[in-house]
Amino acid sequence: MKELATMNVNQAALLDRAKEILHFNWKEGFTIPCGKLYPFQWNWDSGFVSMGWGHFNLDFAMAELKSLFSGQWENGMIPHIIFHSENETTYFPNHDFWGTHINPGAPNKPKTSGITQPPVHGFVLEELLAQHPDKSELEGFAKMLFPKIVASHRFFYQYRDPDREGLVFIYHPWESGRDNSPLWDESLDRIEIDYTTLPPYQRLDNSIADPSERPTSQQYDRYVYLLELGRRNQYDGPGIAQESPFLVQDSLINAILIKSNESLIRLGERWRLDVQEIREWQQQSRKAFQSKLWNQELQSFIAYDKRADKAILHKEIGGMVSLFAGIPTEEQAHRINAYLMDLHQRGFYICPSFDVDSSLFDSKRYWRGPIWPQMNWMIYQGLKAYGCHKTAEIVRQDLLELVSRLGFSEYFESQKQLLNDITKGYGGGNFSWTASSVLDLIQNP
Ligand code: GLC
Repeated sequence: MKELATMNVNQAALLDRAKEILHFNWKEGFTIPCGKLYPFQWNWDSGFVSMGWGHFNLDFAMAELKSLFSGQWENGMIPHIIFHSENETTYFPNHDFWGTHINPGAPNKPKTSGITQPPVHGFVLEELLAQHPDKSELEGFAKMLFPKIVASHRFFYQYRDPDREGLVFIYHPWESGRDNSPLWDESLDRIEIDYTTLPPYQRLDNSIADPSERPTSQQYDRYVYLLELGRRNQYDGPGIAQESPFLVQDSLINAILIKSNESLIRLGERWRLDVQEIREWQQQSRKAFQSKLWNQELQSFIAYDKRADKAILHKEIGGMVSLFAGIPTEEQAHRINAYLMDLHQRGFYICPSFDVDSSLFDSKRYWRGPIWPQMNWMIYQGLKAYGCHKTAEIVRQDLLELVSRLGFSEYFESQKQLLNDITKGYGGGNFSWTASSVLDLIQNP
């Protein structure tokens, strides 16, 4: 196999293709992650996508976010899916299945899902402003969006932090953005399903993508069970924290919340707005993240199972995003950096989404081991900020190499030795956040 340094990545061709893909996935005002597999607008995807558009079409970048926020609920929540078209039949669960009219603060149009995803929009807005420091229409747009993003953070602190710890919970693996990560296995296994009450359903993802690269049906039953639990509680009621067998303080969602808080504080100060409320959230969240989520044995930030009241002892990619939020001490950052360098030396592309030394690692199955483009983007930024330039550059180059060899897939094989026998990436193809991550890594290294 070719060495990294000699691998010929044709950046100009990658940029052209990335732009083509975003245009291809553009649907009158927003961008779908990928045709057929994900035919609507997704929450955190749209943040990364907006950043990608920002490099060559600022109008579309702004339209993307505007369109996402048209689905914001009165309680501030940005849903994880906005169903702009109601006739699409290739996706389960569709808007009907979510039945969000159960909550009077959910918009009637567009229809949405009833759960959320990592709050990337604060830092995305700051990125866009940094890309275009002199565009007054962007400045006006950003000031309009700012209070909506603050409201989405307030949602997290009001509805997802019942003990006022500064760490917010998720009650569905889909909220983490890492649907079938082994992190959730134990908590999901605790759920005993009464099949007489589980609503009948038929998943569609498996007929579009290879089932061996997707979650199992046992996991899917639990996803539907938790959706149903949310619906019973109007998707924001106190019953969720009281009843849900799945209640987790995830490292990734909390790190991204902290990262976006930081951006909101900086932007608010620049515009002389009152940011005291955000500062208070931030102070408490940073402290709690450090004291509750760092695990000395694993030398890593971990997730915490609030229902079982115990740490989820796995090393995985969410904890590494703490670098991007500026959370680790120099010493902790040094540990994370050394771990990534070691993986690189052992013949892995970095960063695999799960602990390669665990028996639960599966380099092909979704969030159980493959490389994910937007994760590489965030970890690249984090490593750079900590001065770990060598590792940062490997993280960047690994993704560019994978994309140039295997195309703009949803996710990728993480074991280099398997690459010779593989001709494509995993999951969906022509993927929007893959295109956006590549665009930014090339245009704004
Ligand atoms: C999958 C991913 C999630 C993403 C969505 C759309 O569900 O796990 O993170 O937002 O696809 O791309």
